[in-house]
Amino acid sequence: MQFETLPGFREFYPEACARRNHVFGRWRQVARAFNFLEYDAPVLEPLELYIEKSGEEIVSQLFNFEDRGGRAVALRPEMTPSLARLIGAKANSLKRPVKWFNIGEHYRYERPQKGRLRAFYQFNVDIFGEPGPTADAELIALLCQALQAFGLSAGDFKVRLSDRDLWLLMLAAEGLDEAGSATVLGIIDKLERTDRSKTIEKLAPVLGEQAEAFLGRIEEAIAIRDFDRLRAYIENLPLEGDLAAQAKARMEDWAQLLRNLKAAGAGDFIQIDLGIVRGLAYYTGFVFEAFEASGAGRALAGGGRYDALVKKLGGPDMPAVGFAMGDVTLVDLLESKSLMPEYMQRPEFIAIIGGEDERDAALADAAQLRALGYQVEYPLKNQGFGKQFKAANQSGARFALIYGSEELERGVVKVRDLTAGTEAEIARDQLLQQVPALLESGLES
Ligand code: HAM
Repeated sequence: MQFETLPGFREFYPEACARRNHVFGRWRQVARAFNFLEYDAPVLEPLELYIEKSGEEIVSQLFNFEDRGGRAVALRPEMTPSLARLIGAKANSLKRPVKWFNIGEHYRYERPQKGRLRAFYQFNVDIFGEPGPTADAELIALLCQALQAFGLSAGDFKVRLSDRDLWLLMLAAEGLDEAGSATVLGIIDKLERTDRSKTIEKLAPVLGEQAEAFLGRIEEAIAIRDFDRLRAYIENLPLEGDLAAQAKARMEDWAQLLRNLKAAGAGDFIQIDLGIVRGLAYYTGFVFEAFEASGAGRALAGGGRYDALVKKLGGPDMPAVGFAMGDVTLVDLLESKSLMPEYMQRPEFIAIIGGEDERDAALADAAQLRALGYQVEYPLKNQGFGKQFKAANQSGARFALIYGSEELERGVVKVRDLTAGTEAEIARDQLLQQVPALLESGLES
């Protein structure tokens, strides 16, 4: 019987693993350029951590079960609740702002489809302890730089920027209370993927007769792409007193965020789009999602501010903002743009041996070279020179080290440049000293 992987789970043969590691490498490089520290957390967590904190959609997609100790547990569908717990537990001793990142696998019982699997990697990047828009700007700039690090440009992707704070003010201007607003935001989140008539039906319990006119006003807000228009729209809302002051202050935050993003070189990637509200329950302020520029396909990344989550999980008050980028949609996009390099691991040296007597010498040299970090392949089988040379050429190695009995008697090893076809002899006791020059300039040096 042939076993298969579970639906939505992937196997990584070496070539696929090399491609995956290319993605991880770029993510890590960009996180370090912004001076974020890497952390990690458990893959299996108490089920409780996700109930209410993550929101209905994720909870309905959990891989959860009871462990042998009778505990209700779940494979992590996302990193944010674990991270908020980690931060909350050490909040007082952490130097702020806390800037952390992680690369790890996550699990959601979704219907496997293009861009969506049941096991996928995320690059999570978060900042804690800074309430102002400079932190949001830092993260969105990092997100843009990470996508650029793969060779993507402004023609390839956009970051759609929105604001749950602004939505709450707009919905307050419509006379909605907190509960009504939460329901409506859930409906707005699904707007793009839902029929207009179905949306009106869903709005009716909150807005009654007003539902259709209300949807019209919402659509108008969602169509805004320009900051000056957004500002004018917000200034014209029927808000008074404290709410009016909040709206004014919020537009200052927007202005600062957009100014910072422009200065950081991310301006071209940003698209104001209030249609983004994010499905997860914990978001509180600016929210954003990165998409392919055409708008097609599932999101490349998503995130936003979640100022209340650390406290909700038992920690102190701690403002937070972050995002996660997934590997599945990213690699699909890179492949469609031919930006995914083909990887083949090549050894620097491959040993070729005359027979068992020469194996000892080859093995001793290989051991020393390997200890210095050079990549050395050496034959496990005893085969004729012809077969070994063929294998050496196929291996992609740069140099063959040829151990023949006659050479060894003279204390030398023959080095062959497998690309140029040139050969030279090197005294074995000089090999280690000569290797750096050999790799730098080839045999002729
Ligand atoms: P999310 O929008 O649920 O946010 O996921 C972020 C990204 O993970 C998505 O844009 C997508 O690229 C990838 N992703 C999610 N589900 C799947 C799936 N089933 N298959 C393949 N890729 C997937 C969060 O997870 C938040 N915790 C992000 C965050 C961090 N917010 C603050 N900090």
